[in-house]
Amino acid sequence: MVGYTVPRRLHGVEAEAAFVVLSAAKKVEATGRRVAHLEIGDASYDTPEHIKEAAIRALKEGKTHYTPTVGIPELRQAIAESVKRDYGVEVDWEKNVVVANGCKQAILASMLSILEEEDEVLYPNPGYPEYEAAARLAGAKPIPYKLTIEDEFRIDADRIAELITPRTKLVVINTPHNPCGSIMREEDVKALADLSDDHGFYILSDEIYRPFLYDGEEHYSPLSVKRSLDRLIIADGFSKRYAMTGWRIGYALIPEELTTTVFKLLNVMTSCPSSISQWAALAALTGPQNPVHEMRKGYEQRRNLAAEMLSEVEGIRFVKAKGAFYMMIDVSKLISKLRMSAEEFVMMLIEKYGVAFLHGTALGSYGEGYIRMSFSASEDHITDGLKKLKQAASDILSS
Ligand SMILES: Cc1ncc(COP(=O)(O)O)c(C=O)c1O
Repeated sequence: MVGYTVPRRLHGVEAEAAFVVLSAAKKVEATGRRVAHLEIGDASYDTPEHIKEAAIRALKEGKTHYTPTVGIPELRQAIAESVKRDYGVEVDWEKNVVVANGCKQAILASMLSILEEEDEVLYPNPGYPEYEAAARLAGAKPIPYKLTIEDEFRIDADRIAELITPRTKLVVINTPHNPCGSIMREEDVKALADLSDDHGFYILSDEIYRPFLYDGEEHYSPLSVKRSLDRLIIADGFSKRYAMTGWRIGYALIPEELTTTVFKLLNVMTSCPSSISQWAALAALTGPQNPVHEMRKGYEQRRNLAAEMLSEVEGIRFVKAKGAFYMMIDVSKLISKLRMSAEEFVMMLIEKYGVAFLHGTALGSYGEGYIRMSFSASEDHITDGLKKLKQAASDILSS
């Protein structure tokens, strides 16, 4: 029998490690011990009631069949209207709006639609792992640009400019940022838009966390700067904004030249997104927005609590998040004393102390020495988890 070999295209494609950490934590919980969950980027808020009701209505009305591949017209139109409201830019719902099974699939289909083998993709590292995985699936060359604690993990257009070559086809940005909680400055967004015009590469701007900004910070998007989708893709979705991670609805705003290709890809992958979830997403977008404002306020309070508690932990460094619901914690001092990697440290914290973080290397090679905390967790988990981290740090430094 011929042995199985993983196709070359899939070499280096990794599954999201957050789910591996979660299952290690569940194993410890199965023994009856309590684990504080700060590892996963899921809302501890429930999907708002009126959204659930819209889904129930859709079910009862028999809206349970295939829909158009890139989404029902009602939802695509509502997305186009929300873009006009939020960015002040007109997009054409038929040419520019595609709905997918989560923002993740919208990113994958968009990237597959433009990348050829050997094209270079610049992406943030640490960063959301999907960008590198999608580039690899497309046979393209992922090139990381490094985010550093010294720059408060900001995406810096000058750093990107240094890496541009004639093969650069796509630059991925993410603001507010997972896992760093940083946001892009207006000047960097403008400078990147200019670089795209000069060199002709596409920008994919992942803005899924844009409702979650703190201390009065503002969101800067290349769409507001360019005022068109010329060589620009905006990835967004409902998972985080409306606490709908399990409903699997996201979307992309794409330039017209990609519409047919993205349609074909999404059709091949999944035929269409869940019909019921689409009707729920429509209710989310057109219904009251106060649940989003309430969640934002709640996340800001949790961030404040987390930052206060982290500032009392010895031997670590962190930057207070300006957006999203994550913070990267520099634990290099602790792990070098233990002679452990960030991943081994995370496993030790789960087993010995009962708190789960995500190791920074799950978010790219430049995440070594870091762990990510998610403050989308409840205050109870944040308080318990950071007390345990404080104890661990004190034990390590005094040993
Ligand atoms: C930056 C970023 N983009 C996209 C996604 C995927 O979102 P969805 O659940 O809509 O696929 C995530 C999920 O964690 C994320 O952190």
